[in-house]
Parts: sequence; C-alpha cells; structure tokens
Amino acid sequence: MRRLLLFSLAAMLTCLAAGTLPAQQIGGPALDAPRLKGPEPFTRETPAPAMQQQITDDVRRRRNYPDQPPLIPHAIEGYALDLNANKCLSCHSRRFTEQSQAPMISVTHYQDRDGNFLGGVAPRRYACLGCHVPQTTANPLVENRFIDMDALVQPEKRGP
Ligand code: HEC
Ligand code: HEC
Repeated sequence: MRRLLLFSLAAMLTCLAAGTLPAQQIGGPALDAPRLKGPEPFTRETPAPAMQQQITDDVRRRRNYPDQPPLIPHAIEGYALDLNANKCLSCHSRRFTEQSQAPMISVTHYQDRDGNFLGGVAPRRYACLGCHVPQTTANPLVENRFIDMDALVQPEKRGP
C-alpha cells in the first residue's frame, strides 16, 4: 500500500515536471464534469444557446429522498418575490390554500433554526426559489448515476 502511494506520488511529480497532467485530470471524456470551454479562439462571437423549455405540466414530481424540497411543476414567470411581495405565498400559505388548492407549505416553513414555531412564515423560508426550482427539458450534461433510496434499502414495511 505504502509503495503504491509512493509510486503514484512519483508519477504525479513526473507529470507535473513535464508540464502535463494525465488526460483524466484535465477533463478528458472520462471525467465527470463537462468541459467549460468557450469557442476557439476565445475572442470569436457565437450565438447564445437556445433557452430551454420549462416543464409546466402541473404534475407533482416524486422526491428523490423524503426531505428534498419538491420541484416546482408550474410556470413561475412574472411571479414577484422580493421584500414587499411574495407571489408564491399568495397560493401556498395556510391562509390561501383553500382558494388556490395549492399544497400548503409544510410546518418546517414556520420554524426558526432552533425548531421554535413562529406565527408566520420563517424569514429563512421566505426566498422560496433558494430551495424550490422548476425543471426544463434540457438534456443532462453528464450521465446521472443516482440510485433511488428504495432500491438501496428494504421496502417500507406496512403497518401491523
Ligand atoms: C396561482 C397559485 C400558485 C402560485 C402563485 C404558486 N403556486 Fe406553486 N403550486 C400551485 C398548485 C395548484 C400546485 C399543485 C400542482 C400544480 O397544480 O401545479 C403547486 C405546486 C407547487 C410545488 C410542488 C409541491 C409538491 O409537493 O410537489 C412547489 C414546490 C411550488 N408549487 C412552489 C411554488 C413557488 C416557489 C412559487 C413562487 C415562485 C409558487 N409555487 C407559486 C399553485 C401556485
Ligand atoms: C431553506 C429551504 C426552503 C425554502 C426557502 C422554502 N422551502 Fe419549501 N420545502 C423545503 C423542504 C426541505 C421541503 C420538504 C420537507 C419539508 O416539508 O420541510 C419543502 C416543502 C415544501 C412544500 C411541500 C409541502 C408538503 O407538505 O408537501 C411546498 C408546497 C413548499 N415547500 C413551498 C414553499 C414556498 C411557497 C416557499 C416560499 C415561501 C418555500 N417552500 C421556501 C425547503 C424550503
């Protein structure tokens, strides 16, 4: 083990000395992240990539784990979210869900960071878009190897 470590250290040093790194480390195809490379040469102007289409089919998406902030399945264009107005709350707050038929923000949205319950929405949950995001039809840049928890653990047992 020790010898292997020493060997890889030596190999890395050699590469550094030669002014190169193995292809994998500079972003060859084997690397996870896509290359953030602009046009060649970098001064050339290229058209901006097309805007991606938002998914607004109103179908609530399954969460990848129980306390994932759910994804937004509807359009949010033009919804004000600033110091004076929060359009999201005009449907999702407890007061308005009967009218809007939107799912109510859960109880955690009324708790401060110490777990105390507040009379209104906690300030740390005011900026909804910091946690909840819409999706687009864009193709993923890298392969997604996420494995759902249900595939890893035993299926939930039913009640007694
Ligand atoms: C006009 C009412 C309305 C407004 C405004 C609104 N929503 Fe919704 N929202 C809904 C309804 C109704 C649903 C249920 C699914 C559907 O019909 O799209 C929903 C679903 C959601 C969900 C999915 C919940 C789940 O359990 O899957 C999230 C997250 C969400 N909205 C966040 C937001 C955020 C953030 C904003 C502000 C940018 C916002 N909504 C503004 C009505 C609204
Ligand atoms: C700091 C992150 C954060 C912010 C900010 C936040 N949320 Fe959430 N939200 C969550 C998480 C995490 C969940 C899922 C676990 C839970 O219910 O606490 C959730 C759940 C929800 C749900 C589903 C509730 C349910 O019972 O199924 C709705 C609807 C929602 N949020 C709307 C909003 C709206 C509207 C805002 C802005 C007023 C907002 N959230 C701000 C993290 C956040």
